[in-house]
Amino acid sequence: MEIIICSSESQVGEVGAAKVAQIARKVGPAVVLGVATGGSPLATYRVLAERVRAGNLDLSQASAFALDEYVGLPIDHPQSYFDTIRRTVTEPLGLDPNRVHVPDGSLDRLESAGDRYEDLIRQAGGVDIQILGIGSNGHIGFNEPTSSLNSRTRHKTLTDGTRKDNARFFSSLDEVPTGCVTQGLGTIMDARHSVLVATGEAKARAIAAIVEGPIMAMWPGSILQMHPDITVVVDEPAASKLIQADYYKHVYADRPDWQKLELL
Ligand code: F6R
Repeated sequence: MEIIICSSESQVGEVGAAKVAQIARKVGPAVVLGVATGGSPLATYRVLAERVRAGNLDLSQASAFALDEYVGLPIDHPQSYFDTIRRTVTEPLGLDPNRVHVPDGSLDRLESAGDRYEDLIRQAGGVDIQILGIGSNGHIGFNEPTSSLNSRTRHKTLTDGTRKDNARFFSSLDEVPTGCVTQGLGTIMDARHSVLVATGEAKARAIAAIVEGPIMAMWPGSILQMHPDITVVVDEPAASKLIQADYYKHVYADRPDWQKLELL
């Protein structure tokens, strides 16, 4: 794992975007992005959008796959992940909406939603760069604790804690859906490169557990320790429970030129 500890939330966005842009350029114009929703990646998306506007990055031929979708919200609901991805990713990053995919959270087609989404990812040749956030309970996607470490895209039930965490996006807790369709941990692990961004003290326990703890289904993000190319970008509060924080800082400061990121 590459761990980068940043001095501010905005620096997390700059470093996260620089990493994504670097890989996207290497992969080429038809890069396939995996995109998370939630608050964590917003700064990264903002900087990627700046790069696109400045002509420094072209994603017009890219495809994207969202990690997850709520069950039972109409796709034009402002908090559906379909609409959230349109607002925060597709439009600002100049993606072609026909190549942006979100799992189907409609109630009547739930049984096949996972397999259909896996097929779409396969047909696109797999995800090149997966952008991830992390829940305070260690979930990635909506793979709640005790999710199978090898799971594929499927219907899951959200924990009360996740619904409470996400209630800030709705007018009341009652409005937060109880179910979702999420890429599985096995699906997420298939991405060729991954960039996880996290900020704030509320994520410190999860970051310490997934980076330095044992690999276990109670901390689903810990499976990323098995990923061959994962960068974790965090601010100081999110890094505050990392035992080896000084080591990660030292490694980053002394990295060789070929590992350096081109910041805007
Ligand atoms: C969202 C997702 C989740 C979030 C996580 C953190 O698509 O898959 O894993 O990344 O819940 O959410 P925020 O960033 O809002 O704290």
